[in-house]
Amino acid sequence: MRGRFSPKGMTEVEEMETRGVRSAVDLRSDTVTRPSAEMRRAMMSAEVGDDVYGEDPTVNRLEQRAAEIFQRPAALFVPSGTMGNQIAVRLHTEPGQEVVCEARTHLFNLEMGMAAAFSGVQLRPIATATGRLTWGAVEPALRLADPYNTARTGLVVVENTHNWAGGVVVPPAVTRDLLRELKQRGVPCHLDGARIFNAAVALGLPLIELTAGFDSVMFCLSKGLGAPVGSMLVGEQDFIHRARVVRKMLGGGMRQAGILAAAGLVALEKGPQRLAEDHDNARYLAQGLATMAGVSLDAAAVETNIVVFDLTQSEFDAAHVVAKLAERNVLANALDRHHVRLVTHCDVDRTRCEEALFALRAVLERE
Ligand SMILES: Cc1ncc(COP(=O)(O)O)c(C=O)c1O
Repeated sequence: MRGRFSPKGMTEVEEMETRGVRSAVDLRSDTVTRPSAEMRRAMMSAEVGDDVYGEDPTVNRLEQRAAEIFQRPAALFVPSGTMGNQIAVRLHTEPGQEVVCEARTHLFNLEMGMAAAFSGVQLRPIATATGRLTWGAVEPALRLADPYNTARTGLVVVENTHNWAGGVVVPPAVTRDLLRELKQRGVPCHLDGARIFNAAVALGLPLIELTAGFDSVMFCLSKGLGAPVGSMLVGEQDFIHRARVVRKMLGGGMRQAGILAAAGLVALEKGPQRLAEDHDNARYLAQGLATMAGVSLDAAAVETNIVVFDLTQSEFDAAHVVAKLAERNVLANALDRHHVRLVTHCDVDRTRCEEALFALRAVLERE
């Protein structure tokens, strides 16, 4: 079943449902989405070539569209957000330097120590209450004045939306100050915008207002936008040219990648239009959860498609709750001992969120 193209033009989930098979309500991440029928058709008919030779017309089209949408000179299709971030770290820094980031970022927690292993830099994580990296928080962490004792700050990375902080949006007023001050000091700033379209939709602002001024931007096609694989790195012509070289070093030269880029193009053009629905569903989940025993959660603070709730006051820890939910066909992720994360996406509609809330109440309140 998995990966087969339906002659009826239905997605895998839709087909299962017409056969009366209920798939799990999978709220572990927005990476779990299956490609839509439109994406599968685009993949079937994609024109392809060898992208390492620059000859895949569909990849070239995707890169052009990404560059246009972000109003940058160039873009590069990469297999994953992690590779996009790590290419940026490699290109912006020198070995022995330091990269400043927020303490709960993907870069610091979930990229396998690759900044040290591949770029020879150390990370300086800054704990914040909200996940928003302000100039006030970054300034004391910069190391620029003492070349003989400290590792010089080579890069600052901002994550927007901030995943582990509960999908919070970093508004342009915050990044504008930070970018201005960093520019004055000659420190580059990379945007981990894995979910930057969610941030733009949540703020009701043009994407460009959230991305202008960053030296490079990574965003993911394979999260809320719904593509099966792929992320993009956007920036200056020379930066993207050098990024292409580093991508090859990492084994990311993907040959007839137009098959994947075709789905990416559908994700890029159509994906952003439906993100507001995911945000509504996340708020709906948060409002229900906030009324449950032992849950600490400010539902009004849920801005995008991610809900992180705190179980410090609960009799249960996060791993227990996740295991019990799975028995009820609802999948979630434990971030640590006391925090569970739910992520909404195009494969969970309101009805499925209602099912999830029902299961959550049963588990948390021992019904
Ligand atoms: C904020 C953020 N950055 C980067 C990534 C990495 O993306 P990938 O899983 O495609 O490597 C993720 C993945 O969840 C993420 O949430």
